Amino acid sequence: MTPVPERASGWDRATDPEKTPALIPDPASTEVPAELRATIEAAMALYPERHSAAIPALHAAQQLHGWCSPEAIEQVACVMRVTPAYLDSVASFYDLLHTEPVGSHKVAVCTNISCWMRGGDELLDAFRAAADGQEDVFVTGFECLGACDIAPMASIDERYFGPLEPAEAQGAIDQLLAGEDVLPGKALEKRQLVREAANLRERVRERFVSEQPPYSILTRGIEVDVLPTCARYGMGVISYSPLAGGWLSGRYREGSEAAPPASAARRQLANRFDLSLSANQRKLDAVEQVAKVAAEAGMTLIELAIAFVLRHPAVTSAIIGPRTMEHLESQLAAAVVELSDEVLDRIDEIVPPGTTINPADGGWVSPALEAAARRR
Ligand code: FES
Repeated sequence: MTPVPERASGWDRATDPEKTPALIPDPASTEVPAELRATIEAAMALYPERHSAAIPALHAAQQLHGWCSPEAIEQVACVMRVTPAYLDSVASFYDLLHTEPVGSHKVAVCTNISCWMRGGDELLDAFRAAADGQEDVFVTGFECLGACDIAPMASIDERYFGPLEPAEAQGAIDQLLAGEDVLPGKALEKRQLVREAANLRERVRERFVSEQPPYSILTRGIEVDVLPTCARYGMGVISYSPLAGGWLSGRYREGSEAAPPASAARRQLANRFDLSLSANQRKLDAVEQVAKVAAEAGMTLIELAIAFVLRHPAVTSAIIGPRTMEHLESQLAAAVVELSDEVLDRIDEIVPPGTTINPADGGWVSPALEAAARRR
């Protein structure tokens, strides 16, 4: 069939009135990866009307496929029970959803007014030059990303960074391609909330005195921003879940029967415990290695895990969650355990600093910080 031409660049593709209308894909013949299906179903459960989950569902498919390919759209349509055409209309409307192949890393440099006045155009040029020839990196200019207070800024794989200098672009691209933590001192994320909390002290003479994030060997994301920012502003950190919801208690080990979460509340958090998900398999691998470190250091996995949390200089205390006297006794001993630098280095090799293996373990995220809220 002769390809249907575009009416004009940037406008919707012309429709073919002769074509059979697209149908909702048949679940019996449409293969959908289990992890993607679970993510889409979780998104649909958040809304009374399933169509409202189209953007997060397409976003999840894009993360898996690299772009909103026909196959990705077919899979989302199958799970959501909508037509591919409906999803195509959504995907082609939003700049952050790609209906053409792009690199797996995406850099959006803001060139809107605040960023432009502070060198946004030069920053975009620097990122384009740094990524020149790198097919896996897609660099684009973008309108206001809603983080004008850190202008000039960029979104790199959907994390915000700023204020940035053009000279930092090459290093950021190199770190991105090497799989390293990108510009750790420039990441916004939760640091923004902590900073705002500290600012309140100046404005209304009241202040927040502590932050309560999840933190464990498997959930280290806050080392990038929350912990250094709390230390800087003198806020206490009373972290919770040092045993990562039981993953570091010995409950989940390789080869053992997959024990379902003990409480009804946890059973609702399937993404954190479902062993068929690759992120949880990676947690299982890490637990095995950490358990070996603990055994060689002469302590239990539980002691090592809690002592690791307490050892961070920004952490004030850790909230433990024993349900029995036996649990309590097995955890209290960690208070006097000293971890050597060698043990900490070995843990860093297993789970690099600033890494949360399964993003679902990262705790509550303010809706104001989610990607959808940052969109224009
Ligand atoms: S102008 Fe750049 S984030 Fe608003």
